[in-house]
Amino acid sequence: MLGCVRRWFLTIIIVGITPVAAFAEDWGMGASNAKIPPSSTFQAVSTPAHEINTVAFFVISITGVIFLIVAGLLTYSIVRFRTRAGDDGREPPQVYGSNPIEFAWTTVPVLISFVLFLITARVIYVVQARPQPPDALSVRVIGHQWWWEFRYPGLGIVTANELHVPVSELASPTPTFLDLESADVAHSFWVPRLAGKTDVIPNKKNTMWIDPHVPGTYLGQCAEFCGTEHAMMLLRVVVESRADFDNWVATQKQPPRVDPAVARGRQVFQSTACVNCHAVQGTGADGRFGPDLTHLMARETIGSGVAMNTRDHLRIWVADPNVMKPGALMPAMGLDNQDLDALVDYLVTLR
Ligand code: CUA
Repeated sequence: MLGCVRRWFLTIIIVGITPVAAFAEDWGMGASNAKIPPSSTFQAVSTPAHEINTVAFFVISITGVIFLIVAGLLTYSIVRFRTRAGDDGREPPQVYGSNPIEFAWTTVPVLISFVLFLITARVIYVVQARPQPPDALSVRVIGHQWWWEFRYPGLGIVTANELHVPVSELASPTPTFLDLESADVAHSFWVPRLAGKTDVIPNKKNTMWIDPHVPGTYLGQCAEFCGTEHAMMLLRVVVESRADFDNWVATQKQPPRVDPAVARGRQVFQSTACVNCHAVQGTGADGRFGPDLTHLMARETIGSGVAMNTRDHLRIWVADPNVMKPGALMPAMGLDNQDLDALVDYLVTLR
């Protein structure tokens, strides 16, 4: 019996220590405090994520106290009233129909649940009811199998998988409001350090907002199973100072420079099925099924985060995307090596 209790105790301690150690790491108190995980829910840098974090810790602390009281009483009873040699085998006195006890264990949980409900409802309201200020940056987020399209209607910019937004200072907030739509199936937009998950549903527009107040790159992930490559539907949000953001906008608005040295690759691009799915400003290619490639090389990754955006990776990708991302909807183009090299030479000039 005691062995069983010891094992039970040990399990509670181990199960309890593991998340605590993880929190400590996230709070920068662990051994590797130099690096904050770029997608840690415990390191909020935007109001919606911060509000959710606060309510989550509040709920965890209340339920944690309840757990400690219940588990403590249970442990005490198991140890104190265990079977001993020489017991006479009689049952202890049974208590039925005690009004004070019935009253206490009905009202106390009801009151606790009510407080938790009120606090959660307040946070939902704070996060969802914020009106969009007229000068806020507005971005359309369109989920595709398996990548993200970002369109800035006020700026005339279209990009993919890497969302750039200005930092929002507490003194002069510049929040970004997102309209979320889907081109095919249900997805879910989730950047843990910036906000909670919001579903991206076909034929429906959902909205959310972020006001990141620390510059940096924050990683996100599609959070709704959407098919073969759901797990590789990654995204990153680049939060920049106002000056850096304005620079990025200015570069994105320029058409890519036409380089005569890569004319052959450009011709390969324009004469294959690339143009049916991809757009490049100034080439007549205006496909919408795949990512806009006008400023392809301004992005850090390709294939929605499947690989870093280097010439070698691009070549593997264009030769056959299924090598990197099995199930990807872009087909292998079946180009010979010369055309493939020329095409990749052209693609790396799209800045
Ligand atoms: Cu898109 Cu999962």
